[in-house]
Amino acid sequence: MSIPQQTLDQIQERVDIVEVVSAHLPLKRAGRNFRALCPFHHEKTPSFMVSPDKQIFHCFGCGEGGDVFRFLMKVERVEFLDAVRSLAEKVGVPLPKRDDASERSSESGPLYEANALARAYYRQCLLGKEGETARRYFTQRGLREETQSAFQLGVAPTAPTGFLTYARTKGFSENVLLRAGLVLKGEDGRLRDRFRHRLIFPITNVKGRVLGFGGRILDQGEPKYLNSPETEIYSKGRELYGLTLSGKWIREKEVAIVVEGYMDLITLFQEGVQPVVSPLGTSFTREQARLLKRYASEVVVVFDPDQAGEAASLRGLDLLLEEELSVRVVTLPEVDPDDFVREKGSEAFWKEVDRAKPLIPYRLDRLASKISLKTPEGKAKACKEILPSIAKIGNAVLRSEYVRELGERLSLKEGDLLSELKKIKEPVWGREKETPAPRAYTPPPPAEAMLLRLLLIDEMWIPFVKERLDADELSDGRTQKILKTLYERSEKGEKTGVARLAKELTEILGGGFFSEFLGESLDSLDKEKALTDCILKVKTTQKIQRLEQLEDEIRQAERSKEEGRLKALMKEFLAVKRGVGVTQKTEERT
Ligand code: CTP
Ligand code: MN
Repeated sequence: MSIPQQTLDQIQERVDIVEVVSAHLPLKRAGRNFRALCPFHHEKTPSFMVSPDKQIFHCFGCGEGGDVFRFLMKVERVEFLDAVRSLAEKVGVPLPKRDDASERSSESGPLYEANALARAYYRQCLLGKEGETARRYFTQRGLREETQSAFQLGVAPTAPTGFLTYARTKGFSENVLLRAGLVLKGEDGRLRDRFRHRLIFPITNVKGRVLGFGGRILDQGEPKYLNSPETEIYSKGRELYGLTLSGKWIREKEVAIVVEGYMDLITLFQEGVQPVVSPLGTSFTREQARLLKRYASEVVVVFDPDQAGEAASLRGLDLLLEEELSVRVVTLPEVDPDDFVREKGSEAFWKEVDRAKPLIPYRLDRLASKISLKTPEGKAKACKEILPSIAKIGNAVLRSEYVRELGERLSLKEGDLLSELKKIKEPVWGREKETPAPRAYTPPPPAEAMLLRLLLIDEMWIPFVKERLDADELSDGRTQKILKTLYERSEKGEKTGVARLAKELTEILGGGFFSEFLGESLDSLDKEKALTDCILKVKTTQKIQRLEQLEDEIRQAERSKEEGRLKALMKEFLAVKRGVGVTQKTEERT
């Protein structure tokens, strides 16, 4: 579906980008503009600008920028159409019906609709007369009304065909209801509701669409939880409960707290521990790990006290390590997260999170509490238990660190452990990295592109940059070439002019370059600061590349057991790493 330009304009007229951005990050006024720390890359000094006049945003650190739609797409990780939809809704601009073209014809459209209807139905049931018991139950478990509403909790009535009948009157076919898993065929061959006399927890995706439901028995009975089956739109291994609401908090706090149940999650969220998600009754899958990784690089897993750190569930977490998430573990004393936070409050819970132990040391501690790590047998067992997990850690430095720690704890030689590590079959990091398919157009690093833009708009600044940056410090051959041209011509006292480079520039910087950046949108900017930022960024990127190179070399040294070399490499790694921090403050040459 394409949306007419006129409609887009209408939406933009009515929204204020400052307001939209403010909902996601704190903005500070800076002259005519607003400034913030960029949400799209890591930085310590703010180079993310929002212009109320132009209704655009731009980051001078990473080069991201555009209009309010672009901002929403990036920050909420949604498609263009979804960004447009959500803004249109907010400001009350009607969009052309989405039905005929994309959604209705796509096979799963009706399934989403049936689920949306079911959610509304169960919600109504909860709010109505027959929902009294359920309401009392939620209240008794401490869930406030606004929380029930935020999570769209509901109840399925006892009648066997309550929803079925309702859905029929709304024109839904039995086929669709069956495919959505909302009804099922009984032994007598008759259709009836899947969920009866159960509390209903709608499961939504990041866009807030209902994919399925969890249903908890209202009093005693079996099974305690009955969930939607796998359907065309729902797969429990692919989703994480709670993410719709907690996603933005996970990004903000840079940590995802993983709990096991619906109730745990909701209570924590209500009590002020918002960055929470829960797998849907299974152990983690790779897809869930990857989904999480889009939000944070750190995961804190909270175990219920009863099955705290069972070896099997701990091993399940290896998958997170493989995805290069850092994992820490919390075991709560005696109670569920749910009870814990209600009794002790969110601050106490956050303290537990702070105290969480990294997975590998945690597992070592658990082992040490069960068996002696002093006997040869104990040591062998510990190695057998822990080394396979260490092997899965993608980051070579971390891996070395853990091997060192394991060696210390078990009084074993690091070299012996490294050779054991090598024997482990096909560690993830030993496999060749997949080479990405060649792409027709690869954009240059944003800082380099930005640098060129700034210089081209105002060539007066070329000497300033030239003093601080050699052209070959750029990592992209194409930007290098242009910068060289600029330097050479400016040396001779000649102006280059964008026209001369028009073709190359469009090829390198993309078609939007001229329309977007030759306007006055960069005029109000502190050029010296912006350029300095770019230069710094270019130099830092180089260091990061060196770090990656070193990681590779460390890996090789590990494999060939060259301990001397390994030490030297680690030393350099740490030195360069420290350097990355330092360059943020001091300039290298003046
Ligand atoms: N679960 C499930 N099917 C079951 C039991 C459990 O899918 N038969 C999942 C649910 O996602 C549930 C989680 O495992 O939320 C944890 O189960 P449990 O600890 O038994 O329930 P709680 O969520 O703690 O529920 P409550 O506090 O209401 O007893
Ligand atoms: Mn519980």
